[in-house]
Amino acid sequence: MTTTTRQIQLTARPQGRPQPSDFRTVEVELPDPADGQVLVRNTVLSVDPYMRGRMNDVKSYVPAYGLDEPLEGGAVGVVEQSTSEDVPVGATVQHMAGWREHAVLDAGQVRVLDTDAAPASAYLGALGMPGLTAWVGLTAIAPVTDGDRVFVSGAAGAVGSLAGQIARRLGASKVIGSAGSADKTAWLREIGYDVALDYTAAPIGSQLRDHGPVDVYFDNVGGDHLEAAIQHSADFARFALCGGIAGYDTPVPGPRNMMLAVARRLTLRGFIVSDHAELAGEFYRTVGPWLASGEVTYRETVLEGLDRTVEGFLGLGEGANTGKMLIRLDTAE
Ligand SMILES: NC(=O)c1ccc[n+]([C@@H]2O[C@H](COP(=O)([O-])OP(=O)(O)OC[C@H]3O[C@@H](n4cnc5c(N)ncnc54)[C@H](OP(=O)(O)O)[C@@H]3O)[C@@H](O)[C@H]2O)c1
Repeated sequence: MTTTTRQIQLTARPQGRPQPSDFRTVEVELPDPADGQVLVRNTVLSVDPYMRGRMNDVKSYVPAYGLDEPLEGGAVGVVEQSTSEDVPVGATVQHMAGWREHAVLDAGQVRVLDTDAAPASAYLGALGMPGLTAWVGLTAIAPVTDGDRVFVSGAAGAVGSLAGQIARRLGASKVIGSAGSADKTAWLREIGYDVALDYTAAPIGSQLRDHGPVDVYFDNVGGDHLEAAIQHSADFARFALCGGIAGYDTPVPGPRNMMLAVARRLTLRGFIVSDHAELAGEFYRTVGPWLASGEVTYRETVLEGLDRTVEGFLGLGEGANTGKMLIRLDTAE
């Protein structure tokens, strides 16, 4: 019977790019679940770019992580003890108590997963928050209509790889993606991107020039990519501002060509996926079958063991992942 468990804590607010020394792994007592609680043994942890923002002590749409407290994040695991009728022992569940081996949670804080429909890890990626983000961006924020030219930055990541495939199925006539290596752009072509631009080979603006004008831009990167998309936009183009990873560690200059948003009557709209929970049902009903049939595909980059969680998180800023970055704690799963 396990009495202690390991968790990763934030020990310092990162300045610029986070360092391994901003984190520590701590062994703590594992409490017994109280009435209405479950004990979950985590099997897969998610690391996500938004976590960088939560490491700063600033007011945002999610609270900052506490110092010397365990970090939080999406995770899936197996229920080992339960005092709740709703969540049986043995169930595979999803919750937000990641960055740790075990979690004791109220039954209402976990969601029982259907692992016949998809592997548990998919609920952290293609069939989870990142996939829903792509769906929200392209249906509610910058809706794709028949014949649109769509540009997706960060296209080989968890959100971007779904966004390109969804855009195609929503009627896009041309889907353009950018990513940071030749291997990644080769994969983008495999999954149906018509044009895949390696932004490390030449400035993204000069490469995009040959493929515009863009009707819809799904922005995961910000910085030079946002400026390029504005430069090569069509009149009345719609931009879904999803993220700006180029500036998460150190802010990057804003686009120098914002006046084109006036001249071309652009719509630039930011969004946070958690504001759009009402679209989750439509997302599962539509994208779920595409994933189940293999018509829409996804990749995972998986590191093994809690000790590699920080490495996985830091790898997001270095392009170490293709598709969803995950940490697997239980190789038997
Ligand atoms: N608004 C929302 O509700 C919401 C929800 C989820 C995610 N997001 C945002 O969506 C974006 C993608 O998230 P994700 O989970 O799918 O992450 P991801 O794309 O799977 O991983 C991050 C990727 O960003 C790229 N990258 C890192 N630094 C870069 C730079 N300086 N310039 C260009 N690309 C860079 C890397 O790929 P390369 O090798 O191609 O550089 C890396 O693989 C992030 O900005 C995230 O914050 C927003």
